[in-house]
Amino acid sequence: MTTPQPAASALSPAPAAAANAAGDQNQAATTLGARALQFLQDHPTSAYTVRDLNTQLSITTASGGLHAALVRLADAGYLLRDSTVNPQTFAAHPSPPADPPQFGAANRAPTSSGLPRRTAAAGSVVKRPNGRDYHTRMLAGGRDVDVLRNLRQHDIPVLLYGPPGTGKTSMLEAAFGDDLYTVNGDADTVVGDFVGDYIANGDGTYSFVDGPLVLAMETGGVLFVDDATIIPPQVMPVIYPVMDGRGVITIKSQNRQVTAKPGFYVVAAHNPFVHGAVLSPALASRFSIQVEVPTDYHLARRLGVPAPIVAVAKAMADNDACTWAPQMRELTDYARVNDALGRTVAVNNLVSVCPEDDRPELIRLLADKIPGVAADPLAVGGTRKKATP
Ligand SMILES: Nc1ncnc2c1ncn2[C@@H]1O[C@H](COP(=O)(O)OP(=O)(O)O)[C@@H](O)[C@H]1O
Ligand SMILES: [Mg+2]
Repeated sequence: MTTPQPAASALSPAPAAAANAAGDQNQAATTLGARALQFLQDHPTSAYTVRDLNTQLSITTASGGLHAALVRLADAGYLLRDSTVNPQTFAAHPSPPADPPQFGAANRAPTSSGLPRRTAAAGSVVKRPNGRDYHTRMLAGGRDVDVLRNLRQHDIPVLLYGPPGTGKTSMLEAAFGDDLYTVNGDADTVVGDFVGDYIANGDGTYSFVDGPLVLAMETGGVLFVDDATIIPPQVMPVIYPVMDGRGVITIKSQNRQVTAKPGFYVVAAHNPFVHGAVLSPALASRFSIQVEVPTDYHLARRLGVPAPIVAVAKAMADNDACTWAPQMRELTDYARVNDALGRTVAVNNLVSVCPEDDRPELIRLLADKIPGVAADPLAVGGTRKKATP
């Protein structure tokens, strides 16, 4: 026999037999939920359907109780629930609330789930310097921001890669805050964009203004080279001496040596799929850790992006014929426009930001997932019918 748990007690794994013996349906669901949560946290890289979990946990009772428990755990932020697939799946949340889940009435928050809602206090939201929230993601078994900070402590340079808008810059801003000094790379980037340059004072004289590399070195900060692989390859060697452990650069025009203070660190990001991107062996070999950053569709759902829009984004990302797919940026923008101006404008705006070549497929998917929606590009004075198939 099981003794009923006190109202405020934390969930802990218990044998299935105990759950089955308990007549109380809630108690059974609680125990099933605890076992499922434990199983999913032990298998953090996979998502499971309710049926999968029934099999894995050798549950012989009807799956309704397990499903209800999983939904409550997802509502409370312990699990990720993907309802855009059929059957829906559940996976361990990479950064669950710090406290174990509690089902007791004494702790019940005013939610239909009976579990407290996930809050920023769970430790998974980090403020970026611009004040916006960054929701941490799972990386190498930990929170992405913690792993990046750890890599900095060990001076292991990291290169993030992925399409634009997947959250590379936000992740670095969340991890390093005001310590971050950024060079926004492009085909015209020159050495002066790293070290600094002389600028006119307006009275005929010139002063040297330190660039992001020098500022990061002198403050023990983090140099972030964005879009590193479209910077001309003859420019990049400006950072190699500091990355190779010498810790010193020379600014010839000033006959000045700059020494890196402790804490100085280099990170970079790039989009390997963009035209002209070249990850030279010299550059690649200096970034010991290279991390792919894809859009986190589960997170997009949690941030309020409707399931059909996430499904459209996934379908385009999986379609090799598409050159573009909505990433986290477009998905969170969708949610914001939806809140501000409503669904039709949000849908039309998504069509507007899509490159012309991919619009027919986007419009087809939108019509499929959101029947009745008028998927035209947003335009002043009406819509451009040309793009509609
Ligand atoms: N983990 C996240 N939490 C909250 N918002 C995110 C997250 N990842 C991406 N975003 C949103 O997506 C936008 C684009 O992210 P960004 O970091 O600029 O992408 P990238 O650098 O890969 O182009 C951000 O401004 C932010 O609104
Ligand atoms: Mg960026």
